[in-house]
Amino acid sequence: MDWIEQLKNLMGNEIISTKTSDLENCASDYTEDLSFLPNVVAIPKSVEDVSAILSFCNTHEIPVTPRGAGTGLSGGSLPVCGGVSLSMHKFNRILSIDEENFQATVESGVINETFQEAAKEKGLFYPPDPASKGSCFLGGNIAHSSGGPKALKYGTTKDYVLNLEVVLPSGEVIWTGADTLKNSTGYNLTQLIIGSEGTLGVVTKIVFKLLPMPKHDLLLLAKFRSIHDACKIVPQLFIQGIEPSALELMESSAVHYVLDRSDNISFIVEEETKAYLLIEVDGNDMEKLFADCEHINNVLEDANVIEVQFADTAEQKEKLWTIRRSIGEKVKSHSIYKEEDTVVKRAYLPELMIAVKDIGQEYGFETVCYGHAGDGNLHINILKGEMTDEKWTGKHLEEGIRKIFRKCKEFGGTISGEHGIGFVQKKYINEALSPINIDIMKGIKAVFDPKNILNPNKIWR
Ligand code: LAC
Ligand code: ZN
Repeated sequence: MDWIEQLKNLMGNEIISTKTSDLENCASDYTEDLSFLPNVVAIPKSVEDVSAILSFCNTHEIPVTPRGAGTGLSGGSLPVCGGVSLSMHKFNRILSIDEENFQATVESGVINETFQEAAKEKGLFYPPDPASKGSCFLGGNIAHSSGGPKALKYGTTKDYVLNLEVVLPSGEVIWTGADTLKNSTGYNLTQLIIGSEGTLGVVTKIVFKLLPMPKHDLLLLAKFRSIHDACKIVPQLFIQGIEPSALELMESSAVHYVLDRSDNISFIVEEETKAYLLIEVDGNDMEKLFADCEHINNVLEDANVIEVQFADTAEQKEKLWTIRRSIGEKVKSHSIYKEEDTVVKRAYLPELMIAVKDIGQEYGFETVCYGHAGDGNLHINILKGEMTDEKWTGKHLEEGIRKIFRKCKEFGGTISGEHGIGFVQKKYINEALSPINIDIMKGIKAVFDPKNILNPNKIWR
């Protein structure tokens, strides 16, 4: 009897599927145009199910690739070695929201926005807000320590996790920490699991800390004649004592791609505008927020801003955020592309922009840039356009991307701020990490997963 039959006998047909539609659903995620079919899809309903599946696969050395909502951008959930795609969508319960302690316990397949809304109903705030918040799972957010616009003021996923229930590749189940705001007890296994991209264990439950919900937010849109002008003003805002809750950059071409592919968004990109900053402030004191906006306006007017617009209504705010959040998806629908997730010290953004455009010219690719300017996290979409398949998949493009990453390193940065290394960035990891760091990390992987069954062929070459 082959392993698939054995696994079906062990777990039942409801949990182990070989239906073509299930296999195809788990073959790809939001990363480029990549697709790898697993042999089976496992749909566990309980931590015991996850444990039994992992224990079986460990014994039989079958690759297991954990999968959340499939919104990842580095190929972390692609079952590149076949085997089992472990789909966590039935782990969709919010188990408790503890209003007394500002904490919540959730399963890892809960959608980010569903959790945000549930917390909000109790006056509580879960800030991490990736662009895909309407569909991405919290477990996937843990895998990459996802950020989003509010990461600027509030931090990324890692800053909200107190404790995790994790199933190890052996099938053993552990809690990584304690449900407390402080913990100096041994190594920090919680933070080790966060960002480990499903290579060390499968997260089944998460204990989050929450904040009180800020009562108000205000949003400004600033227009610039060049992306360089937009980037240059970013550090100045902080130097002037402004603490935005979000500070986002959009190149005008990015906005064009969104408008071309969306119905019913009325927004005009004027000829001279080449870049936008979206600046949000939040808090409880409306007068202070208006004063902050005034202050931001003054700082921008001293710089090369064309115009600053105030988003007056909830609809206007939502429209601007919809444009910003749809960029990745709309650019993808236009062309095959690669999404780079560069991050540098924010004062180096103008230099990074110049380098990206120069390297694009040298290697013959168009770039569409946008992202979280306030924390120096620039998303660079490289479009295939007219580039030949040979250049696109070969050393030519790789060399261009490597040059961009070397510039990031030079500017105090690294090669991913929030999307992870996964499958597509692993060939570049040596640009970011030293051989000693890589050896330490591989050693950690070997302790957790000595047979290398869990999300193999990710992060490492
Ligand atoms: C964004 C995703 C791509 O910021 O990280 O839109
Ligand atoms: Zn982002």
